[in-house]
Amino acid sequence: MRVVVTGATGRMGRIVREVAGERGWEVLPVSRSEGTKYEPSSLASALAEERPDALVDFTVPAASVETVATCADAGIPAVVGTTGFDDEQLDALWEASQSTPVLHAPNFARGVAALIGLVREAVAALPGYDVELTETHHRGKRDAPSGTANRLLDAVDEARGASAERVHGRQGAHLRGDREVGVHVRRAGDVRGEHEVLLAGNDEVLTLTHRAESRRVFAAGALDAAAWLAGREAGWYDFSEVLNDDA
Ligand SMILES: NC(=O)c1ccc[n+]([C@@H]2O[C@H](COP(=O)([O-])OP(=O)(O)OC[C@H]3O[C@@H](n4cnc5c(N)ncnc54)[C@H](OP(=O)(O)O)[C@@H]3O)[C@@H](O)[C@H]2O)c1
Repeated sequence: MRVVVTGATGRMGRIVREVAGERGWEVLPVSRSEGTKYEPSSLASALAEERPDALVDFTVPAASVETVATCADAGIPAVVGTTGFDDEQLDALWEASQSTPVLHAPNFARGVAALIGLVREAVAALPGYDVELTETHHRGKRDAPSGTANRLLDAVDEARGASAERVHGRQGAHLRGDREVGVHVRRAGDVRGEHEVLLAGNDEVLTLTHRAESRRVFAAGALDAAAWLAGREAGWYDFSEVLNDDA
């Protein structure tokens, strides 16, 4: 496999390159930093010259949208790990997927894919229980709540068949409403990523927790997705399809 890695000097970019190298893949780093062969502004020529099997992107939403549009023009499959897109940016990614394969996941950890299913199951099994979500990430994370937290909140809504009122933190005099799901965000140190969904009612508490112990888990999942995506037809793909094919 030959992969282009954008945001190559970022926290995720560095580890994606490392894990790809361990797999014996050829890595073409793209970075705004001096000293790399390709910069974001020369991505189109990099894709034309190198014809990689896929591109893996962990950057920032605006840069990611441009990168995926460039992949669409060149017909290169794009794996997007970046989070924090607004609706317009998500539409732009989807638009690009009409010309090239695009797989976007807010979390490439296999345990999180399992957690989403478990949350759906637990919420369906425990109607009327209060649900609260807490996520913790390193101090350098920009978007809040995390893309994974939003995906878990969607899973709660799917299980209930209704949209919860997402209450971000609490302050002052306010009684908890039945439709509320409290969302609590912590940013500290170099925590790789923790998500906890708590269900409470009927004199009991159930907590479902995922903790990433290293960024390698995200890099490995994204590279598995890249290998799976290479050579596919244009379209919008989900990480669960990669995992289902593995099962
Ligand atoms: N899906 C998942 O499993 C998963 C896991 C972890 C993180 N993430 C997400 O991945 C993204 C990156 O996280 P990170 O911790 O690696 O962040 P980071 O350390 O800040 O790295 C982001 C890199 O993107 C590049 N970049 C930043 N601004 C840019 C711009 N305006 N134009 C072009 N490139 C730009 C830079 O790399 P260069 O200077 O080399 O160009 C930067 O180092 C975040 O959205 C994060 O939430 C997703």
